[in-house]
Amino acid sequence: MQFKKLSLLAAISLSVALGLMFSSAAVAQQAPVARGKYLVNHLSHCLSCHSPIGRKGRRVPGLEMSGVPAKNADKRKGPPQNVGFPGPFGMRSYPSNLTPDKETGIGNWTEADWLNAFRKRVNPQGKKYAHTQMEWDVYRNIKDADLKAIFAYLRTMKPVKNKAPANIAPKFPGKGGKGKH
Ligand code: HEC
Repeated sequence: MQFKKLSLLAAISLSVALGLMFSSAAVAQQAPVARGKYLVNHLSHCLSCHSPIGRKGRRVPGLEMSGVPAKNADKRKGPPQNVGFPGPFGMRSYPSNLTPDKETGIGNWTEADWLNAFRKRVNPQGKKYAHTQMEWDVYRNIKDADLKAIFAYLRTMKPVKNKAPANIAPKFPGKGGKGKH
């Protein structure tokens, strides 16, 4: 009798343990997306720069992380999220579309492309990113697991079609240049 009770107890605890194992496996699968969301929205400021601003200084709902609107390419007045960041010697940089749209966002990026951008400061075509307000030097310190979590979260966002304007490179003064020192 005693033995039966014991084995029943053992069976129950085994099934509880197995249940816990499986449910924590499920949590582990969800965790990167939740962590990515926390990093993008609250800690790393990705959301603040990469989302257009609407009325009352609020982010335009539905356009989060879709970058500077293409239609604003020639505009100079407004928040940098809408018209790009001005820089020295006429340069201007435009936060890009990081939603999973395949043509205008990062929908075609692989996780390796994503890691390369932060580790080597190159885009998926291998082109080096210029010095802009995008703080590659700071963000390259994000550890792999967190970068992957950010990527995983961005992949769950609604794809938005928007080709952010192309950056304008600085025109340095000097030979042939028109700028002044
Ligand atoms: C201070 C503003 C700012 C913040 C904060 C910021 N970005 Fe950026 N980001 C930019 C700008 C400007 C560019 C355009 C740079 C370029 O094209 O060379 C850019 C470009 C990028 C690109 C390249 C996209 C492409 O299409 O090539 C990626 C990837 C990126 N940002 C990811 C992030 C992530 C992830 C975060 C948060 C961890 C973040 N950014 C935070 C301003 C910012």
